[in-house]
Parts: sequence; C-alpha cells; structure tokens
Amino acid sequence: HRQPIIAIDGPAGAGKSTVTRKIAQALGLLYLDTGAMYRAVTWLVLQSGIAIDDEPAIAEIVSQCQIELIPDGEQPRTVINGEDVTEAIRSLEVTANVSAIASQWAVRQALVKQQQAFGRQGGIVAEGRDIGTTVFPDAELKIFLTASVQERAKRRLLELHTKGKIEVTQEQLEQDIAQRDQLDSNRAISPLRKASDAVEIQTDNLTIDDVIQRVVGLYSREQ
Ligand code: C5P
Repeated sequence: HRQPIIAIDGPAGAGKSTVTRKIAQALGLLYLDTGAMYRAVTWLVLQSGIAIDDEPAIAEIVSQCQIELIPDGEQPRTVINGEDVTEAIRSLEVTANVSAIASQWAVRQALVKQQQAFGRQGGIVAEGRDIGTTVFPDAELKIFLTASVQERAKRRLLELHTKGKIEVTQEQLEQDIAQRDQLDSNRAISPLRKASDAVEIQTDNLTIDDVIQRVVGLYSREQ
C-alpha cells in the first residue's frame, strides 16, 4: 500500500510552486515539480538548436534524456543530462516556448511515465497542470489553485522586481500569462482542467499562509 499523494494543479502564476513547496515541508512529503521537467526538456531543445515544432527530433531527445530533481533545502535543483539548469529554466525564453513543447504527445508520454514512477511509493505532493486528471487520478487530495490574470501578473512582477529583473511591464506579463493559459487549456492531450473531484481555491484575496492552512486542513480530514 502506498503513502498518500496530494495533486496541485492550476494555471501559471496561481502560487502553486510556493504553496506546494511549503506543504511538502509542513507535511513531510516529497515535492514533485512537473513544470520543471517540461522546462528542462524545453531548455535542452533550445540548447541543441532543434526547431520547436520538429516533433520527431524532440521525441528522440526526450526519450534519451535523463532528468533529476534533487532535494536541496527550499528549492530542489533540476538537472538534465548532468547539467544543473535550476536557474536557466526560469528564463523568459524557456517560459515562452515551454507550452509548445509540453503539447507534444511524445514529450508528455515520456514525462508522465517518469512522474508516475516517482510517485509509486506515494508520500509526495506534485504540482502541474494534469496531476489530478492524468498523472495521479487516484490522488487522496486534489487541489485546483486559481487567481485572476491581473493578480497573477502582479505577483510575477513583484517577484521579478525582488530579483532585480524589471525589463517587463505588468501589461506584458498579463499577455504572456493569458497566452500560456490559452495554450495549456486548449491543447489536445492532457489540457489544464480541474479534476471533477478537485477542491478549487481562488487565491486573489488569500495569503500563501491562508492557502497552506486550507490545504493542510483538507489533508488532515483525509487521514
Ligand atoms: O508550472 P510551470 O509554469 O513551471 O510550467 C511550465 C509549463 O509546463 C506550463 O505552462 C505548461 O505548458 C507545462 N506543464 C504541463 N503539464 C504539467 C506541468 C507543466 O503541460 N504537469
């Protein structure tokens, strides 16, 4: 019998990463960031000069690559083919291309398989777009985190300011987020969708701690 699994899905910028990381710490679960895996493959494709729509070449690359998610305090490190890409996968270039890569069947098939292997023993909290619907449809607790486009852009801008990166405007971020939502929600395979048995939390007026308390509360009711 496996340990419990928490699935956290939702659109870009709804606060999934922070919430998932802290829930993992609070409950002593492993943290699985599936977005980092799609980002790492995107980084590799860009790096190798393969066209973003060359599906056969990308299928080949993804079938041969090795992705490691290494626990390291607050922020686990992402390593692909031995190279640490933890920072590189957050670039605007990777972010702009990741949805196109993540819509490809061969990419999803390979990564979902790895994610399921990672969760075989349970005891994890996984975040992504299709965790509750496709990767772990039998997860004990499914959360769907949302926030308005404006709120998500505002949070991203604040985050970029904190890191000293201020080359984008709120409007640009709103456009990027809306476009990524559009692509992620309308693709043919495993689109971003709330599982029928997921609990939706709208976070516009909630703090991170509010959200964590709710999830931890729901989780302890499950036990
Ligand atoms: O969560 P994050 O913003 O890092 O995810 C990056 C992209 O990876 C998403 O916009 C989406 O296109 C893709 N993704 C996905 N399925 C997942 C996780 C991420 O398609 N489970």
